[in-house]
Amino acid sequence: MKTLILPQKSYFGEHALADALPEIVKMGKKALIVTGPHVGKSQMISEMTGFLDEYKIKYSIFKSITGEPTLEMIDLGYQQFILEGCDYIIGIGGGSPLDAAKAIALKLSYPNQPLSDFMGMEIDGDFVNLVAIPTTSGTGSEATKFTVITDAQNSIKMLLKSEKLIPKLAILDYRYTLSSPEKVTVATALDALTHAVEAYTSNKAFPVTDSLAIAAVQKIFKYLPVVYENPQDTNARESLMYAAYEAGICINNASVTIVHGMSRPIGALFHVPHGISNAMLLKGALAFVIDGAPERFANLALAIGLSDAGLDQLALAEKFIQALDQLAKSVGVPALKDYGLDELKFMSLIDKMSEDAILSGSPANCHKTVIKADIIQLYHSIWNNEK
Ligand SMILES: [Fe+2]
Repeated sequence: MKTLILPQKSYFGEHALADALPEIVKMGKKALIVTGPHVGKSQMISEMTGFLDEYKIKYSIFKSITGEPTLEMIDLGYQQFILEGCDYIIGIGGGSPLDAAKAIALKLSYPNQPLSDFMGMEIDGDFVNLVAIPTTSGTGSEATKFTVITDAQNSIKMLLKSEKLIPKLAILDYRYTLSSPEKVTVATALDALTHAVEAYTSNKAFPVTDSLAIAAVQKIFKYLPVVYENPQDTNARESLMYAAYEAGICINNASVTIVHGMSRPIGALFHVPHGISNAMLLKGALAFVIDGAPERFANLALAIGLSDAGLDQLALAEKFIQALDQLAKSVGVPALKDYGLDELKFMSLIDKMSEDAILSGSPANCHKTVIKADIIQLYHSIWNNEK
């Protein structure tokens, strides 16, 4: 099946929030603003609450999303929503507050059901209106149906999805990303790059997602090094914001594959930032699946301007994977072994991580069959930096 699902309305540019206010007014009577402590005391929140006050829009600020969201954080946000009499949610921040906003909406519709019950299924239901305002260029959560919530007790990252959780409004102003620290900028951009590459090489890809994926890959290869050198380069920041949005639409409709499948367990068990665990796995995991679709990876090589002189498709595909690895290294991403994880603990958890990776369903989107034994082997070989 080839369908395209998108946010109902998206606003872009320096006046995106001001432009969107007439639409925000229609979302409900009182907003729960879901954010983190850093954004919660920033100029962005002042600007937003100033606009909301001007429009007499009521709100309550919940700023307890201190990292990748957990079930406990979702419970707290849910309680504040009820106590404050809110009727819609505005998520503002990186991927974590946006994902948290979606999960709070989910809990509001299913208050007595554990969120873990919804893993692996397309969730139906009526949800409160969602507005998403990203301050990083990464997850693309503002454009997606996905939310990733950590179940800390069971050390698992739950991937939950519902078309009805796609924000009604997405508001993208690159100025909100200008103060994003270097580490966050790198991790989030590499997450978006992984989304685009995996969606393009997924067996669910189709021409519309292909176009968006190629556009996102080209922008990130071109502009991530620029932002790395000059974080205040507004043109590059804006380009990365568009790329993350494009890549978000890609995964909404063509999904992710093996890298995300293997990356989520590392994030859940070792608390490695999502984009960095993706980046450390990119070369090894994708090298394993390129022979399933060498022409797809070869197309990406051509899209970023690599020469095909004298190369067959597989060689060109391998050249693209090398370019991905070089880009990640050039912005400071270490090898998995050098990240500082406890080797004994990592080795002892490979079986669980491989099981969780397969259960997530993501590796099944590759053009090549991937089984648990392959994932086990890959965790070992990537750790040992084998080819
Ligand atoms: Fe991701």
